[in-house]
Amino acid sequence: MDKRKVVIHGADIYGEKLAKRIEYIFDVVGFIDRRASEKNREKNNIPLYKDYEDVPEKVDFIILAIPDFNGQQREYVKRGVPFEKILDFRHPYDYEKHILHQCLVNEVMRRKVPGAVAELGVDYGDTAKYINLYFPDRTCYLFDTFSGFDQRDKDESQALTPEFLEFYNFRSNAERVLDRMFYPEKCVVKAGYFPESLNGMEDEFAFVHIDCDLYKPILAGLEYFYPRLNKGGYIAVHDFYNILYPQAKEAVREFADKYNLAYVTDFFSDSAIFSKD
Ligand SMILES: C[S@@+](CC[C@H](N)C(=O)[O-])C[C@H]1O[C@@H](n2cnc3c(N)ncnc32)[C@H](O)[C@@H]1O
Repeated sequence: MDKRKVVIHGADIYGEKLAKRIEYIFDVVGFIDRRASEKNREKNNIPLYKDYEDVPEKVDFIILAIPDFNGQQREYVKRGVPFEKILDFRHPYDYEKHILHQCLVNEVMRRKVPGAVAELGVDYGDTAKYINLYFPDRTCYLFDTFSGFDQRDKDESQALTPEFLEFYNFRSNAERVLDRMFYPEKCVVKAGYFPESLNGMEDEFAFVHIDCDLYKPILAGLEYFYPRLNKGGYIAVHDFYNILYPQAKEAVREFADKYNLAYVTDFFSDSAIFSKD
């Protein structure tokens, strides 16, 4: 599988750390930094260029690792770089979750773990689009009711009252989600109530993100995906520390205890992570 070629605009410590975090996900062919000079031609064995036009090969994406993202993005677009080619890894919302996913995916790629990828609980695809970006050649399953929570998932800990459902109104649209993906042709939309939406589906997985908030689908997701996770793969479950969805933690703990499995938690990204070895 060919890795997509990227350049990182900004070669200070943030750019350098970013390059390390994604070194197996992308082929980082250069840094762009105005401090590049005859004496300053590389950073950590990665070529350093003064300008995008100096990069000798065609790249798939430019990742901006500088404070003035919008200003630089505008400049690139004015210079004719397509908007979609400029990646925004600032993630003002759920920044730590995206960083965690990049770290996990980087290890999956380093170890060449085979398998498809999936997200259970997609909403508008704000996370799924990045999972799809990191795995351009793999099937990416997108599971969601696309009509919000289902009354079958209500339990003692989550009443799913009309007020709750009105506020947490997850009613996205599969077409719109697909439109936001980097490689929609690799995506398989699994619309409907999980686990019914599986419909006997069989596959193996390298990376799965479970983000469906409620106890029952989280538990059902772990029951389905964990046995199908390949060695070296990861399942990240969101909301472990979320006070709004305390049952997410309960589902993770119940599953782990039932099968005597270890997991790690990360407070900052609000995640629990299962691996397979
Ligand atoms: C918090 S949102 C997902 C957010 C998304 N992962 C992101 O990062 O933007 C939770 C989603 O889980 C979905 N969901 C909850 N229970 C489900 C079930 N039993 N089957 C399918 N989807 C479900 C909801 O429809 C909702 O879109």
